[in-house]
Amino acid sequence: MKALITGATSGIGQSFAAKLAKRGWSLILTGRNEEKLREMQKSLGGNIEIIAADLAKKEDVFRVYEFCRGKDVDMLINNAGYGLFGKFEDTDLEDEINMINVNITALHILTKLFLRDFKKRDHGTILNVASAAGFMSGPLMAAYYGSKNYVLKLSLAIWEELRRDRSNVKITVLCPGPVDTNFNNRAGVSFSVKPITADQAAEYALKKALNGKFFAIPGLTVKLGTIAPRFVPQKMLAAVVYNIQKAKKTSDGKEKALK
Ligand SMILES: NC(=O)c1ccc[n+]([C@@H]2O[C@H](COP(=O)([O-])OP(=O)(O)OC[C@H]3O[C@@H](n4cnc5c(N)ncnc54)[C@H](OP(=O)(O)O)[C@@H]3O)[C@@H](O)[C@H]2O)c1
Repeated sequence: MKALITGATSGIGQSFAAKLAKRGWSLILTGRNEEKLREMQKSLGGNIEIIAADLAKKEDVFRVYEFCRGKDVDMLINNAGYGLFGKFEDTDLEDEINMINVNITALHILTKLFLRDFKKRDHGTILNVASAAGFMSGPLMAAYYGSKNYVLKLSLAIWEELRRDRSNVKITVLCPGPVDTNFNNRAGVSFSVKPITADQAAEYALKKALNGKFFAIPGLTVKLGTIAPRFVPQKMLAAVVYNIQKAKKTSDGKEKALK
């Protein structure tokens, strides 16, 4: 069995790689950090191919797909992604467009191209990494929450199309709450609740995906947190999320200056 993992150089993606390698899978790993990819290729052993790519660039996304073409990939794990913190009027537009390119556009392109291949073979699994943020709007991380809403809603729509087609192709969406990775450093925040480990998130998601389940929402609190939005008015929920986000501190321990 073979998997392509995006964002394999750190956090949840690195755990996906370790866990699938342990199960004897062949892997194609991608991320921007080529040195880290080479290191992983050596340390994981087995059949590991690597391709460095910046998924904010459309041409790199297609290059990754071409690299995988004809290699009979069984599972696509769209894991690469990151968040940006701040009031929408303040966050840097260029940074935000890059984030949308990685979190939405790259995932969209790879999902479509691999889905077409998987449908032809009537075999394959797509594991898209969204977030609990996908169930709500997120003041102070507006574009990040919006991007994860896109991943969740896109994946659910594809799931229904596959179900109607009685297809053997499967799609799973991972919606974790806080996970202890490099995510916070990049977003410039720290968690207000205790995170799970990247290994826990990856193992949970793989079990769900390999059993053909759609939702992978690790942890009871997070599960409840994803159900609540169905019963709470949207504006009230946005106010709650604002307060949660505002309480997050920057990685250097200082409270983010919010107007
Ligand atoms: N940590 C959390 O609390 C949490 C919660 C819910 C959902 N998630 C989601 O989980 C996924 C993995 O994040 P993580 O928590 O494991 O964070 P992480 O440790 O920061 O890992 C992010 C990965 O994405 C890759 N990446 C970032 N920008 C990229 C780009 N332009 N091109 C290619 N690859 C890029 C990074 O690789 P390079 O640096 O080598 O490019 C890295 O391997 C993300 O989609 C995130 O939104 C995280």
